[in-house]
Amino acid sequence: MRLSRRLWPRFWSSSARYTPIATSSSPRNSGLPLSYDKRRCTQPRRLIVQRTIYACAAILTLLSLGVLSSGIPPSYSNIWHYEKLLPQHNLTEALVQNRRYLRIPNRVTGHGLNNVLQESVLLSYLAYRTQRALVFEDYTWSHSLSPYVIYDFSLRPSRLPLNAFISGPSAGGAVPPGSERAVNAAFWESICPAESRHTISSADQPKYAEGNVLFDWWMSQLGATQERCVEIDSRSQPVFDHNLFGGPQILSLWEGFSKSPILADFAWSRLVESALNRNLPIIQPGVRKYLSQDGVLPSTFSNLVAVHIRRGDFKRHCYRMVGWSANYMGFNRFPQFLDTFNSSFDEDQHARIQYYLQHCLPSVEQIVEKLRIVRRANPHLKEVYVLTNGWRWWLNGLKAALLEDGWDDMKSSLDLTFDPEQKHVAMAVDMAIAEKAEVFIGNGFSSLTSNIMMLRVSKDVDPSTNRLL
Ligand SMILES: *[C@@H]1O[C@H](CO)[C@@H](O)[C@H](O)[C@H]1NC(C)=O
Ligand SMILES: *[C@@H]1O[C@H](CO)[C@@H](O)[C@H](O)[C@H]1NC(C)=O
Repeated sequence: MRLSRRLWPRFWSSSARYTPIATSSSPRNSGLPLSYDKRRCTQPRRLIVQRTIYACAAILTLLSLGVLSSGIPPSYSNIWHYEKLLPQHNLTEALVQNRRYLRIPNRVTGHGLNNVLQESVLLSYLAYRTQRALVFEDYTWSHSLSPYVIYDFSLRPSRLPLNAFISGPSAGGAVPPGSERAVNAAFWESICPAESRHTISSADQPKYAEGNVLFDWWMSQLGATQERCVEIDSRSQPVFDHNLFGGPQILSLWEGFSKSPILADFAWSRLVESALNRNLPIIQPGVRKYLSQDGVLPSTFSNLVAVHIRRGDFKRHCYRMVGWSANYMGFNRFPQFLDTFNSSFDEDQHARIQYYLQHCLPSVEQIVEKLRIVRRANPHLKEVYVLTNGWRWWLNGLKAALLEDGWDDMKSSLDLTFDPEQKHVAMAVDMAIAEKAEVFIGNGFSSLTSNIMMLRVSKDVDPSTNRLL
């Protein structure tokens, strides 16, 4: 583990929770030097040492079996293959065209899907506006050489193809004439060998600027070069970082961004859609017909309200929000939204904390109350779907309270069923449900909610159906 810490210091510092499988399952970890024992120990002590070794081996075996019992993740070889065969990856053809490319190799890693998604769609927009083909990156959870890492006591793939989560322009899908389709990193290596790359550093970009100021700066940097292969060196400073996504500065980009093919043609992957299909009878058991005649999912799930109730890590995170006087994230602050947050709410500290918790980590009573208010405005809502990482016993309590309050049904992330490939994209399935629910109630402090709002607002749903806790 120390070795991997030295090899990937950035990865370890950003999140120290993953354990590369090779180290933790290594039997040498029992840490008892045998030679020491042979040379110096008396018989009884040797016995103790032996027993300790056996006990450690047994514990390690049990732990490994526990981890393995949740299954070895699939290889996703069909999706890797699909990406490889995208038409823009024909090198013979590409070499005779004068397509131009853009790569930003240092992306967020070891973070949740939503940090990756927000960065990926905005960089796609930059490439689109500068008429370059963006290099799309794998979803990298860990730079470990092993294909899996242990996380939450089960195996998780170190990297997944982006097309497991999304399709559309950001993942190499079709774009309108005059624009360039995104390519994968392997293709970039062939078409843009190292000596052909022109590098621009992000070190001099404006800091804490309005979104459109930052964006225009990049447009002029990229517009000033005609090189075929441009790479942005963002090791000192991400091109688009959490300050931009976290605050209202990003809204100054909305006008152009929302109308661009990046958002207009955004789509979930076939894998996510298949999981959605499979689970619709669970989410809305009363609905008889889920697919239209051409096999397309409906764009709205009528009578369904989806609500994002993040627990787990948010039990700490919400208190940090108080300390930072944080407000709702960027795309949770559209001016037309009914729910706003007052971060300068300056009563005494206790009242402040209660105010933050009500909106960031609400109690069962507060959730029931919020849903009651939303139902009063949308009286035909009948079913609740909860996007959550909470415990089942807690959700059982919430469900009982909601049924008591007159809802027909409540289902949650924990009720969905998946095949082994679908299992690792479950978060995107949740998001697709929230995107299509008639009404969505999000958590203003969450990037998952912010991305759902981005999609819902770009689809022009009635603004009064986008609510926040
Ligand atoms: C790549 O493009 C060339 C030229 O258009 C064509 O002859 C060839 O069949 C293509 N290769 C593949 C694998 O599609
Ligand atoms: C926010 O809270 C402060 C203090 O309670 C109050 O003075 C201010 O008017 C509030 N702002 C809004 C927009 O409600």
